[in-house]
Amino acid sequence: MKKKMTVPDFAKYKAEGRKFTSLTAYDYTTASIVNDSDTDVIIVGDSLGTVMLGYGSTVPVTMDEMLAHLRPTAKGAPQTFIVGDLPFGSYNADVADAIRNATLMMKAGADAVKLEGGEFTETISAVVRAGIPVVAHLGLTPQTASQLGGYKVQGGSPASAQKLVRAAQAVEAAGAFALVVECVPSGVAKAITRELTIPVLGIGAGVFVDCQVLVLQDMLGMFGDFQPKFVKKYRDLRAEMVAALNEFHQETAAGAFPTAEYSFNAAVEGFPTE
Ligand code: KIV
Repeated sequence: MKKKMTVPDFAKYKAEGRKFTSLTAYDYTTASIVNDSDTDVIIVGDSLGTVMLGYGSTVPVTMDEMLAHLRPTAKGAPQTFIVGDLPFGSYNADVADAIRNATLMMKAGADAVKLEGGEFTETISAVVRAGIPVVAHLGLTPQTASQLGGYKVQGGSPASAQKLVRAAQAVEAAGAFALVVECVPSGVAKAITRELTIPVLGIGAGVFVDCQVLVLQDMLGMFGDFQPKFVKKYRDLRAEMVAALNEFHQETAAGAFPTAEYSFNAAVEGFPTE
């Protein structure tokens, strides 16, 4: 059985050059499948909004929705490190809000929380001081995609790449124990990874980072709305699932399901058996 990663393991893996993996999960069954795999970290991401709740973005996701999905996910994956994603509006207004909401996530089963943006170094320090491990998130920050002009690669010019490196150093100095970097050129992610002593978890950030992150429903080919360039589809489960549902439908229409094997066959006096 795999051993659950701890916060100190993140720095240890980085120091040893040991690469690791992270996937999203939002429910008990999926979390239990991830738990059975070698995956080290589950992020209960606010991608919940797009993948599970059908919202057009992550912006509408609330703390109540995050907590409702975090609890069963944590129950389903006792051997997997769980990161709870603080949703838009739950940490932006003030530090007290951030501590309160991060605390709720820890009580719901998270081992750490994640928050987006390089501006929140004070918040990161305060949440860490409150005893809660923090993962920072830079590059494409979907909660503020509107401000960024859309879902675009970040750090594409020397100036913006340098700004990203400085922001990464600042969140590390503020006390984050890991950093998610989303949609940045591989060379920029490599520079950030080299500069930091905390591990860099990359999603659309190339091969040089310490950990690869993907949204599970993307990499298994279940989510059909859109497919980012960086997603490798390891399976096409959507097609598999539709085929299974159609088989069920066809067998039912033909009277071929359920057979005796899937029925309760005890004879009841006065009632037909065939
Ligand atoms: O919400 C999300 O899915 C994320 C990814 C980086 C995992 O934040």
